[in-house]
Amino acid sequence: MTVVALVPAAGRGTRLGLDVPKAFVALHGRSLLEWAVGGLFASGAVDDVVVMVPDELVDGARSLVPRARVVPGGAERTDSVRAGLAAAGRAELVLVHDAARPLTPPAMIARVVASLRGGATAVIPALPVADTVKRVTPDGAVVATVDRADLRAVQTPQGFAADALRAAYDAAPGELATDDAGLVERAGGTVVTVPGDPLAMKITTAFDLRVAQALAEEQR
Ligand code: CTP
Ligand code: MG
Repeated sequence: MTVVALVPAAGRGTRLGLDVPKAFVALHGRSLLEWAVGGLFASGAVDDVVVMVPDELVDGARSLVPRARVVPGGAERTDSVRAGLAAAGRAELVLVHDAARPLTPPAMIARVVASLRGGATAVIPALPVADTVKRVTPDGAVVATVDRADLRAVQTPQGFAADALRAAYDAAPGELATDDAGLVERAGGTVVTVPGDPLAMKITTAFDLRVAQALAEEQR
């Protein structure tokens, strides 16, 4: 079964606050986009990669990641994933992997694909939540302490039978989701988890980039 990975990289990186879109920010000498695409190919579990980038950076991205196909993304992450799905052709299995998770271990990517090959329809990497979690009112008063034993923080790549992901996106035309599996859940699909990895951390803020920089220097 053919596996195509879609890499949403069309965000602006507002919370990171640098003067280039986040996927084009350098980490230890290589852009986040190059790290993310490199990890996908290094897994040995992916046949083809499609990256979705801001319009004006399509040509620039092509020279950064020559093995990938590059298409323009959209205004919201869901629009970018839709653009990637349209370019994915006839892949049977699809991964969606944020460019903002550059240090994701190839072995974790392979785990997601192995679960799909084993028959799962939707697979997400997940980690236990370390912090105590509270539910609060809008002004910050505590309502309850949530039992964290049954909570997980989820990462990417998220893996799908292509038909199920396409159907979930078709069923929710205007829907915004930060998480592709969320759309599959809403469409009634079953989503399973595989162990995530702390190295698959998402770079959102300047602090995250500093952490990733230290990890990247130590790694390679
Ligand atoms: N993304 C995308 N298209 C969008 C918005 C986001 O492809 N219209 C991608 C980002 O490039 C990123 C991933 O989705 O790889 C996760 O999004 P996020 O971490 O929110 O990145 P940004 O949207 O770039 O950051 P911010 O929300 O701080 O602007
Ligand atoms: Mg965003």
